[in-house]
Amino acid sequence: MPTKSIVSITDYSKDQILRILDIAATFEASPNQHILDGKVAATLFFEPSTRTRLSFETAVNRLSGRVIGFSDAATSSSSKGETLKDTIRMVANYADIIIMRHHLEGAARYASEVTNIPIINAGDGSNQHPTQTMLDLYSIRKTQGQLNGLKIAMVGDLKYGRTVHSLLMAMSHFEPEFFFVAPDEMRMPEEYRLYCKRKNIPYTERTDFGSDILKQADIIYMTRVQKERFTDPMEYERVKNVYTLRNAMLEGSKDNLRILHPLPRVNEIDQDVDTNPKAYYFEQARNGLYARQAIICDALGMI
Ligand code: CP
Repeated sequence: MPTKSIVSITDYSKDQILRILDIAATFEASPNQHILDGKVAATLFFEPSTRTRLSFETAVNRLSGRVIGFSDAATSSSSKGETLKDTIRMVANYADIIIMRHHLEGAARYASEVTNIPIINAGDGSNQHPTQTMLDLYSIRKTQGQLNGLKIAMVGDLKYGRTVHSLLMAMSHFEPEFFFVAPDEMRMPEEYRLYCKRKNIPYTERTDFGSDILKQADIIYMTRVQKERFTDPMEYERVKNVYTLRNAMLEGSKDNLRILHPLPRVNEIDQDVDTNPKAYYFEQARNGLYARQAIICDALGMI
């Protein structure tokens, strides 16, 4: 079967998304298999990560493949001035697939153009995080029983938060209604608002995280203020504590509401929410293992 790179969530059609989710469910039922015997995956993380890198590496290990790579670009020859193009060409000599996180938007697309082995985008700047989106979709479907017609509140840093950008595009297949809750400095970028308009997706923009939203939503998707993307430290100081979800705020919310967060969190979800049955962010991160097993096998043409 042919191999393919995953650079943007738009690389998947609706049917392909649903197929990956179904395959992920089979991996949840049976995560240890021999599908990747003899395969080598390279994880090249030019930016910090806990969940994405470790869940990808676990995904490969549980499918009997092997992992090479680096978690800190300072330990790679990019610190000596090696170009991304040369790095990708070199690693493609050793591995069957490259999973890459990079601070530059478009880096994964560029990498996919300079090699014939599949590139999986594990996050490129503020642009996209398609594999996070796949686990988000898996989590939403698992908790809601379906993906269609849901009211989704995206809260926090909607400007620099790449996970909300990918999720918005993926949900466009499923007739959602969005609430975008952000201060002006971190408003959902115009390109994504225009995307919603083109797709006839209703959305409301708010700066206050009001109880009416908490009462209507099926999913509240909290996000961290992306300190590392701010060019003005004073602007970050102004917005860093803008929203904190606390347990008391969930009173009167719908029974099916689930709180998602791509993690890591800083202070946007109080720890008193963690024991609420509506808190789902740690299970969401666990679902990343199954979603990424499905993504890797699909990209390598193994399923
Ligand atoms: N959600 C996510 O991308 O987490 P990490 O930065 O820890 O990989």
